[in-house]
Formats: sequence, structure tokens, C-alpha cells
Amino acid sequence: MDHDPVARAAMAVRAHAYAPYSRFAVGAAVETVDGRVFAGCNVENAAYPEGTCAEAGAIAAMVAAGARHIRRVVVCGGTGTACTPCGGCRQKIREFAPPEAEIAMISPQGTVLVVHTLADLLPDSFGPGNLA
Ligand code: THU
Repeated sequence: MDHDPVARAAMAVRAHAYAPYSRFAVGAAVETVDGRVFAGCNVENAAYPEGTCAEAGAIAAMVAAGARHIRRVVVCGGTGTACTPCGGCRQKIREFAPPEAEIAMISPQGTVLVVHTLADLLPDSFGPGNLA
């Protein structure tokens, strides 16, 4: 994974996670179809439900930069177990990614733990097309 800039971005941003309550630091990076990479970390809050996930931060950075189309996501978090996106984040990714988009979970050291497609993680999903 050393050579993968998306994985490196997820690992690097994880160091900035603000997770004093769970002590569970997560970094996520999205790669857009035009090759740009945006990263985010989890940001917890003393009012616990107000915390935000790493994936949400990465998506917000992408949209703020004017990008809209995700090709790939890398999530780096937890300890030995793959940190798969929570249900809400799966739906947030779905807004900007096709079903075949790859979502890779890596360890804090960069080992690839598991790779799924978005369709694996969120089958038969509801997306923008459903409103058309
Ligand atoms: N978290 C993420 O940032 N992304 C995930 O994919 C799963 C969980 C965060 C939320 C919370 O700050 C901490 O990890 C423990 O749930």
C-alpha cells in the first residue's frame, strides 16, 4: 500500500482524528474519477451524537472542492479488525459513487484487510436515480 496515494492519505489523516471519547481513530480518503484525493478523519464531540465519521469528512472536503464523482474509497481505522463504513456513511458514499466503486479497508499500518464494492456493502440501494 506504500505506493497507493489514496491509502497513504487515509493513513496520514487518521493521525489527526479527534476521538477522545471512543479512542477509535479513523481516516478515510476518496479518489475522484479525475484522480483527485480528499481525506477526512472522525471528529467526536462531548455531545456524543454530534460526532462525525471520517468518511463524512472526506466527502465534505470533496464536495467543497467542487468534485462530485467517487471512484474509490479507502478507510483506515481501528485495530486489527477492518473498519467498514457505518450504515450512514455507506449511504453518503452512495450519493457520489457507482455500485461498482471499490471500498478498501486497511490497517493503521497500511495492510489491506478487505476490499468490497459499494454494492456489496449497500445492496439494492436507494440513490439519486430513485428520485428521477
Ligand atoms: N467511525 C468512523 O469515522 N468511520 C467508520 O467507518 C466507523 C466509525 C468513527 C465514529 C466514532 O468517532 C468512532 O469511529 C467509533 O465509532
